Amino acid sequence: MTDNRGSFSRIGFILAAAGSAVGLGNLWKFPYTVGENGGGLFVLVYLISIVVIALPVLMAEVTLGRHTGKNPVGAFGAIRPGTPWKWVGYLGVASGFMILSFYAVIAGTTLGYFLKAITGQFSGITTEGAAAMYTGFVQNPLLQIIVLAVFILLTVYVVARGVSGGIEKFSKILMPMLFGILLLLLVRSLTLNGAAAGIEFYLKPDFKAFKPSIIIAAMGQAFFSLSLGMGTMITYGSYVPKKENVPVSAGWIAFFDTFIAIVAGFIIFPAIFSQGMDPAAGSGVMFNVLPVLFDKMPLGAVVGPLFFLLLSIAALTSTISILEVPVAFAIDEKGWDRKKAAYIIGGIAMVFGIPSALGQGAVGFFTNLPLFHMSFLDLWVEIWGNLSLSIGALFIAIFVGWSWKTKNAIAEMKEGAGDLKFAGLWAFMLKYVSPVLILAILLSSIL
Ligand code: TRP
Repeated sequence: MTDNRGSFSRIGFILAAAGSAVGLGNLWKFPYTVGENGGGLFVLVYLISIVVIALPVLMAEVTLGRHTGKNPVGAFGAIRPGTPWKWVGYLGVASGFMILSFYAVIAGTTLGYFLKAITGQFSGITTEGAAAMYTGFVQNPLLQIIVLAVFILLTVYVVARGVSGGIEKFSKILMPMLFGILLLLLVRSLTLNGAAAGIEFYLKPDFKAFKPSIIIAAMGQAFFSLSLGMGTMITYGSYVPKKENVPVSAGWIAFFDTFIAIVAGFIIFPAIFSQGMDPAAGSGVMFNVLPVLFDKMPLGAVVGPLFFLLLSIAALTSTISILEVPVAFAIDEKGWDRKKAAYIIGGIAMVFGIPSALGQGAVGFFTNLPLFHMSFLDLWVEIWGNLSLSIGALFIAIFVGWSWKTKNAIAEMKEGAGDLKFAGLWAFMLKYVSPVLILAILLSSIL
């Protein structure tokens, strides 16, 4: 046996899985997606999606991973060898490359904003000034490729060191620190002039503005935020010891991740409205709104850099979990050494990231794709960050619910969880509710 695979310690799994879940999905993607989808109604549909669709899939992924001890391709193959099910695993590995490619671009921008914050570039900044700063940063091709490369290298460095030495250590102290900073921001934002309009937009559902696209966006966001649908949680599950209580851990992870996203909205929307900005302005919202907020708060010169540093680290614990999927695949199925796998796969993802790095904002070919009328990065978020995850989650639910069968999954869950009171409810949700809803939502969005 090589120790290429490794495993988590007991608390290590919750920390690492929460580290995977909490990231740019909560602070960058959630607020702009709420803004683009009309506010309160989206938030309501999102919360329902988390509980009804995503949580059952989260338990299914972790259980499947722990039972087989394998990467997604290997996990499907271990239970149904020689069947096409392994293609769900391959879709996950491919999604891993693609999500990493655009995610590292935004993470790199976050790191860039840490440098801007710590060198005092937010001092005295106006709303217009912040917008010009963002555009200047994302439309500087050389800078974008540099920050992308730096972020991929950081990710590769940690993943090459393995599960407990690298991944676990990074998650331990940083999460509570990030949370502390968020509370400070929350207080500042809620006391801004005009905060109330932001809260109203965020919380008050406008049922008349309903569109089916709200549901597909909310469901995709739920999968993205909980790191579901491409086998991240199958892979992390494969490092989970048998004494771990899987359903309870899954519940905590979902609660924690959702709580952080909701708090992020309470920070961003009051600030957007108090600065007279458009909540539907798209994927740059967080970078446009926060510099002004930091400039307006006591100790903003300290809180600002700390926020962007901690967010970069939260993004790192997420990119690590994304890269880990293709790396575990290469180790298990191709017999590669962990280090070689991390460097080669990270290098390929970096090359795939170049169009995203060059395709943000509003001008140029990569930024205003004909036919799609959006930037390359936004298109990649739609395809790999929403659609492929929903398809992946659908197949994972069908696989665990109907092919592997829930009674076998429940037997696996009972190890470490003891007697499961809600096993029947979970089985019902996974077999009937999640897949039917995912399929219905996917079909209605195509029609
Ligand atoms: N959930 C992370 C975030 O919200 C991103 C992430 C990590 C992810 N692993 C994933 C998204 C797997 C989709 C699939 O920032």
